[in-house]
Amino acid sequence: MSTREAVGWETPAARATSSKVTGRLCCADSPGPFIVAVYRLGETMRTTERLILRPFQDTDLEAWAALNSDPEVMRYIGGPLTRAESDREAAGINQQWKTERFGFLAIERAADGAFLGAGGLSREQWYPETLEVGWRLDRAYWGHGYASEAAAHWLAYGFTELQLPRINSVTDTPNERSIAVMRRLGMTFERTTDLEFDGESFNATVYSMTAEAFRMI
Ligand SMILES: CC(C)(COP(=O)(O)OP(=O)(O)OC[C@H]1O[C@@H](n2cnc3c(N)ncnc32)[C@H](O)[C@@H]1OP(=O)(O)O)[C@@H](O)C(=O)NCCC(=O)NCCS
Repeated sequence: MSTREAVGWETPAARATSSKVTGRLCCADSPGPFIVAVYRLGETMRTTERLILRPFQDTDLEAWAALNSDPEVMRYIGGPLTRAESDREAAGINQQWKTERFGFLAIERAADGAFLGAGGLSREQWYPETLEVGWRLDRAYWGHGYASEAAAHWLAYGFTELQLPRINSVTDTPNERSIAVMRRLGMTFERTTDLEFDGESFNATVYSMTAEAFRMI
């Protein structure tokens, strides 16, 4: 059974709020993504207009390792990973999604099943009280709005299903593409500040969105 054939559910309220966000990102005359969870082979998946957000499968691991070994993709997030590190990260991501109600999920393109990367909500050491929305795509899939589309879903999920009061996004200040995603989502600039990752200091740019601001979009 294909994903599109799978029987799913959606809530009208979630669809309305998610469409409001993604309306900024995409084409006004398109139906826009909405929160929907379906089941394929017993796994929860979430879908947007063009994407399927789901746990990692073994068949993703080669493509995940390839993007994690690309110095350009990993430039602002700790540098390239080995195959073993990449596999371990995917396993950790799947475990977190299973045990908590947030985390990253793999991003698959619905049209052809291509594995694009991953994104989702995470808890980071610098602001542990506030979840962050994040994204990492293979370079071949930059420039199509996929990260913004997936992230819009995660904002809708965080505010409507998890009832979070605020969601942050944090990146290295020179990571302009990441900051552009934050702006596209309608997040608000908070500050630049020095943070530490793996014992190294970096200048970070922090954006955020409150639940109240999300409702106003
Ligand atoms: C950060 C990252 C995900 C951004 O990728 P991206 O492709 O620039 O962002 P999106 O997927 O939202 O695509 C936006 C681009 O697609 C274009 N686009 C095309 N179709 C679009 C559509 N339907 N909707 C929205 N944008 C669309 C936009 O105009 C924009 O183009 P531009 O870059 O020329 O301005 C990517 O650079 C990446 O994976 N970097 C490495 C990992 C990383 O640093 N992650 C962040 C850690 S904090």
